[in-house]
Amino acid sequence: MDRELNAAIEAALQAGEFLRQNFGKANALRYKSAIEIVTELDGQTEQIIAKRLQSEFPHYGFLGEEGHRQDSQAGFWVVDPIDGTTNYVRRIPVFAVSIALVVEGEPVIGVIYQPMVDELFAARKGGGATRNGQPIQVSHVDSLGRALVGSGFPYDAWTSERDNLAQWGRAVKSTFAVYCTGVAALGLCDVAAGRIDGYWELHLYPWDIDAGACIVREAGGVVTQVNGERFDPLGHTVLADNGRIHEAMLGLVGDGVRT
Ligand code: IPD
Ligand code: CA
Ligand code: CA
Repeated sequence: MDRELNAAIEAALQAGEFLRQNFGKANALRYKSAIEIVTELDGQTEQIIAKRLQSEFPHYGFLGEEGHRQDSQAGFWVVDPIDGTTNYVRRIPVFAVSIALVVEGEPVIGVIYQPMVDELFAARKGGGATRNGQPIQVSHVDSLGRALVGSGFPYDAWTSERDNLAQWGRAVKSTFAVYCTGVAALGLCDVAAGRIDGYWELHLYPWDIDAGACIVREAGGVVTQVNGERFDPLGHTVLADNGRIHEAMLGLVGDGVRT
């Protein structure tokens, strides 16, 4: 898997360089829904990543947010070319490229690159997690009252009952603080690096969470669905934390949640 990890890193760096060069130039191309935008650069960046990975590994499938799809039994790449498109369009320099490789129902490679601060998170199953080449570990915080946690809101929050507001309300009342950067992939990296202690979201997609799930696990953390079930790389929810607060987090965000 070292060859796959290196290729994913190279693809993420190449995509990140393209996004850095175009920072400040992106305009909303269309609205996917009332509050979800997509730019030309999302598709172009996915194209860069797909070209790099599919030419070297034609036997793997591909699941890209912007439409690249290829089936395979051998495993498949899961790619979010820009996680944090709203930030990118609004010239907030907080966004990321996210690439995972899923094999036999598990993310075995995770690479997340934050171009504007040149920060690269990478992990291979069984090989540990790194930030710019240095090993990282989750935090040691063991009580909710001391825990800094993160989350976000789903794009269908205007209309869905599954809007995450009740979970946020409970978290605000019992954790040290709750943050929201608008970039789920980076929230998971922050858990892996021990900068925050937990992260959850209720309605995401594989490209938002698979790479981060691998990175958190390899940094010593615990990753499940928000209802406590085994993490599903084709699922829509994530609860990732340092392990020490997992039960408490489940009590906070897992109650009565439909997944
Ligand atoms: C979004 C970000 C955000 C999360 C949204 C995602 P996008 O991804 O990860 O943090 O709250 O639900 O869809 O659209 O910027 O790739
Ligand atoms: Ca995303
Ligand atoms: Ca995206």
